[in-house]
Amino acid sequence: MSNPLPTAVQWSHLVLSRELKPGDVVVDATMGNGHDTLFLAKAVASGGHVHAFDVQQAALSATKTRLVASEVTEASFTLYHSGHEQLGEYLPASLKGHLAACMFNLGYLPGAEKALITKVESTLFAVQQALEWLAEGGLLTVVVYPGHQGGDEEGQALQEWIEALSPDEFEAQRIGFINYRPTTPFLVVVRKRKWTKR
Ligand SMILES: C[S@@+](CC[C@H](N)C(=O)[O-])C[C@H]1O[C@@H](n2cnc3c(N)ncnc32)[C@H](O)[C@@H]1O
Repeated sequence: MSNPLPTAVQWSHLVLSRELKPGDVVVDATMGNGHDTLFLAKAVASGGHVHAFDVQQAALSATKTRLVASEVTEASFTLYHSGHEQLGEYLPASLKGHLAACMFNLGYLPGAEKALITKVESTLFAVQQALEWLAEGGLLTVVVYPGHQGGDEEGQALQEWIEALSPDEFEAQRIGFINYRPTTPFLVVVRKRKWTKR
């Protein structure tokens, strides 16, 4: 008996579970139906906070319902009806350099308008900001969906941008199936290295 290998989303939760602790402050950059927001809220409880973004009101409603149903205290999350590319304008300035993690789960909201997908330019801008806002040792996770129109281009651009990051400042991995269709989702993980005097 053995379990199937983890999906990209499951890998993102596994990687973050190793590091997150009660009291951490984190961002869900694409709240969608709130599965990742709930995962984060549980991982940082008690005393932590999740800041979550989405461009669709339906996502905020679904996420709020999910969190309340799981008895997550309302003081421990903030839901922003805004694109993640504006995270620097919405997050409290005191959090800059102090986020333990920032999660992205690209693509579209399951069951909703497929035209409202994440877009390459705003995704890259938001990921760049997320890295600036991470604490030393903080983690960025991005689940990429190359299967829908524009998703392949978005994933390719993201990977090229991440590949160019200085290994002195960041470590980055791509995790995913290698014998499935090339459209299978994959995970990109980046860890901001702790600064050391050289
Ligand atoms: C794959 S879904 C996210 C799934 C979600 N993390 C969950 O656990 O249910 C992608 C979400 O990204 C949202 N989105 C699209 N463009 C965005 C943007 N610029 N900023 C924030 N969210 C965006 C979509 O509305 C959609 O809800």
